[in-house]
Amino acid sequence: MLRGRRRIFCKAPYLLTFLLSCYIFMSQRSTTKRVDEIPSGNRDFNLTSFDDLLQAGTVVEAGSLAAVLPVTLASLPTLNDTLSLLISPPSCVSQVLIVCPESLHSRIRTTIRQTLRAAPDSDYSPGVSLYSWNGNPSAGVLIAATQLSHKWLLLLDDTDMKSLSDRTRQMLLCPILVDVPIGPRGVAGALNNLSCLPPSSETRPASYLLPPFALPASLVSQIYGSWSELGRAVSDSRKTSYGGVVRGYGDPDLDWCNQPRHASFSALVHTHSSTNAGLFLFLLPNIGDLRLLVKLMCRLQTSGHSVKVLLYSEPSADLDHEIYDSGCHISYQAMNPTARLVHTTILDWVERIGGNPDVIFALKEPATQLLQIDRSVVVRVPRDDLPYVDWMGSLSLVEWQRWHVPQIELSIITQNRTRSLERLLSSLSRGRYFGDSVSLRMNLEQSSEFETIRVVDAYQWNHGTMFTHRRVIHGGLLPAVVESWYPHSNHSYGVLLEDDVELSPFFYAWIKMAILRYRYGESTGETFRLFGVSLYQQKNIELHPEGRRAFDPRRIFAENGIVPSTPYLSQIPCSWGAVYFPEHWREFHSYLAGRLSETTMEIDQIVVPNVRSNNWTKSWKKYFIEMVYLRGYVMLYPNYEGFISLSTNHLEVGSHVKEVSKEKQEVFRLPLMELDSVENLLSMPGARLPEWKALPVLNLTGFLIDFENT
Ligand SMILES: *[C@@H]1O[C@H](CO)[C@@H](O)[C@H](O)[C@H]1NC(C)=O
Ligand SMILES: *[C@@H]1O[C@H](CO)[C@@H](O)[C@H](O)[C@H]1NC(C)=O
Ligand SMILES: *[C@@H]1O[C@H](CO)[C@@H](O)[C@H](O)[C@H]1NC(C)=O
Ligand SMILES: *[C@@H]1O[C@H](CO)[C@@H](O)[C@H](O)[C@H]1NC(C)=O
Ligand SMILES: *[C@@H]1O[C@H](CO)[C@@H](O)[C@H](O)[C@H]1NC(C)=O
Ligand SMILES: *[C@@H]1O[C@H](CO)[C@@H](O)[C@H](O)[C@H]1NC(C)=O
Ligand SMILES: *[C@@H]1O[C@H](CO)[C@@H](O)[C@H](O)[C@H]1NC(C)=O
Repeated sequence: MLRGRRRIFCKAPYLLTFLLSCYIFMSQRSTTKRVDEIPSGNRDFNLTSFDDLLQAGTVVEAGSLAAVLPVTLASLPTLNDTLSLLISPPSCVSQVLIVCPESLHSRIRTTIRQTLRAAPDSDYSPGVSLYSWNGNPSAGVLIAATQLSHKWLLLLDDTDMKSLSDRTRQMLLCPILVDVPIGPRGVAGALNNLSCLPPSSETRPASYLLPPFALPASLVSQIYGSWSELGRAVSDSRKTSYGGVVRGYGDPDLDWCNQPRHASFSALVHTHSSTNAGLFLFLLPNIGDLRLLVKLMCRLQTSGHSVKVLLYSEPSADLDHEIYDSGCHISYQAMNPTARLVHTTILDWVERIGGNPDVIFALKEPATQLLQIDRSVVVRVPRDDLPYVDWMGSLSLVEWQRWHVPQIELSIITQNRTRSLERLLSSLSRGRYFGDSVSLRMNLEQSSEFETIRVVDAYQWNHGTMFTHRRVIHGGLLPAVVESWYPHSNHSYGVLLEDDVELSPFFYAWIKMAILRYRYGESTGETFRLFGVSLYQQKNIELHPEGRRAFDPRRIFAENGIVPSTPYLSQIPCSWGAVYFPEHWREFHSYLAGRLSETTMEIDQIVVPNVRSNNWTKSWKKYFIEMVYLRGYVMLYPNYEGFISLSTNHLEVGSHVKEVSKEKQEVFRLPLMELDSVENLLSMPGARLPEWKALPVLNLTGFLIDFENT
């Protein structure tokens, strides 16, 4: 993965001589991914051997091919035809993922229903689901493609497949096992001199392909910003000069390239427009630190940002170098001044770069302490946290720029469950805070035991200030929770933690990512209904009048054409680890004060019809549920595979829980997202928290609802 080389080497990737030397070099050192179990051709393009492979004609296994189909307003009328081709024999497609704007969902669902009903009977029934995407269709396809777990993919465009011959269509619908993209439309040449290749029954190498084409899914395991970038990654990883092969059979549409409808697909497409592109500087001591950040840097580059890197204590080199990670190149400068000169070296370098950096990412250590550059946001992260920063690559420039604005405050509510409290505190200590200063407040009940107070006294909090509050008159759980935190500004966010909760080390990252995205990102104006972010992933719904019911959002989403891993909004407030937003919490205080004073209604009047919380007594959540119901508020919930969660509840005997069986504890206990979990924070569509409008919404009893009309 790592190759320090002079930069000039690959500035000329299309020159054969260089290619040959690159090839020899790479074959010794590289650890690029390989596609397993696929017959692979010679390293350099050998038409004869490739054609042999095609002649052999082994096609993909049943069930292993998924199609990604973008649908736009223009292509909606022909969706029924395209879909019907994809799902009817002899197609090998077993799953169709439709990439489309939210606004078309209901019309598309109708078409899907009609087409599926009209489809001929067959042994298997392909699944069709929707992926919300409001941007450029090809960028959406490249992102959605990373979400599928099928072994083979067919990437399509938003034109119908009628312009292709039957045989070409057949080649796409049941592709032959080859380890490169294959399809009828390719582009050849170097970046500044591209030309279209017509479909041809002779196999021809192309720099990259445009859809429709088929390929092994492993080639799109990361998100590419454009078709050409995908092609470049393929050719880099195969050590060849081609990123795909063109093959077609008697297609009528030889001049496809010059038609305006392909314009959006042939252009270099970037996921973000250049106006949102920023300049990111990374200041790190050495190559070891850089290695931990390559994924983050690549994601930033792919999103259109410029990334510049200085290694300021790297003994091994003082030349420009590059580092590689499956198709992405990060160049860096390395220096090794004496300790006394490190600070000035850094400042000189930043000055020399010029161009007003937007974000400076630095290791949190004395050398970078005094770093202050006009108009740049400086984010300093401790070395121990560097392996866990991949999620930051999903932030937009605007979100990065507001990095220091939200103040997240932790508030613990405890009485005398000393063992539980110790477990919570030790999970807090394992948490990752990425250099942020986070205050911690302990709220002790009047009846707290000496033992509990001792644990609180002995606890060392290293990430900010700590404050202990103890009641003098017993209050009970309602005031204990409601009074445990109050916002002191419009940027103060309260994480309320009862002592039988335990946290994942990523809980803070999840909160920060969600707050930046929905409170400080591009959609800020629309998100006023969001009152908080839950750390706990619901596995049961408690509010059914008849009692608790198991709940699985992934199953509900799969049945409704929503990608199962999508985080979602729910009206249910969570009390097992959640962050509450300032204006909603203030509003709750007023609502509760009014409600408890009984000035407008009697205390036992029912506000929300048919929910079980009406029978709860002395519960703050009962009143929060009323407010949420009356004002149409929602909370964001995580939705990771296997209910992997950012917090769990151990349901131990306390003021509200009198007796608990082991079985009941198991119903609520969830696996935590650990530092080495396979699921990571970005295991969601597009490896990024969805657009606000694309989040599914569930009501108090766990049913999908149409948010806009409530
Ligand atoms: C291409 O592959 C064929 C069959 O595998 C082989 O006979 C031929 O020598 C190869 N040609 C070159 C130039 O490597
Ligand atoms: C798709 O819809 C059009 C017009 O509504 C209709 O003419 C056509 O037959 C339909 N195609 C299929 C495969 O049902
Ligand atoms: C552009 O590419 C074509 C064919 O691919 C080649 O004939 C031509 O010389 C190239 N032009 C330049 C300026 O490189
Ligand atoms: C804080 O938010 C509230 C409600 O959104 C608003 O009325 C108030 O002016 C804000 N305060 C400041 C200091 O911005
Ligand atoms: C809940 O309260 C209603 C009326 O307040 C009552 O009729 C009902 O029996 C209660 N249900 C349970 C399970 O206690
Ligand atoms: C907590 O401790 C107080 C005083 O020791 C005691 O009265 C109370 O019952 C204890 N509560 C619980 C839930 O154990
Ligand atoms: C949630 O929606 C379902 C289906 O629309 C409805 O039956 C149920 O009453 C709703 N629940 C609440 C609490 O409004």
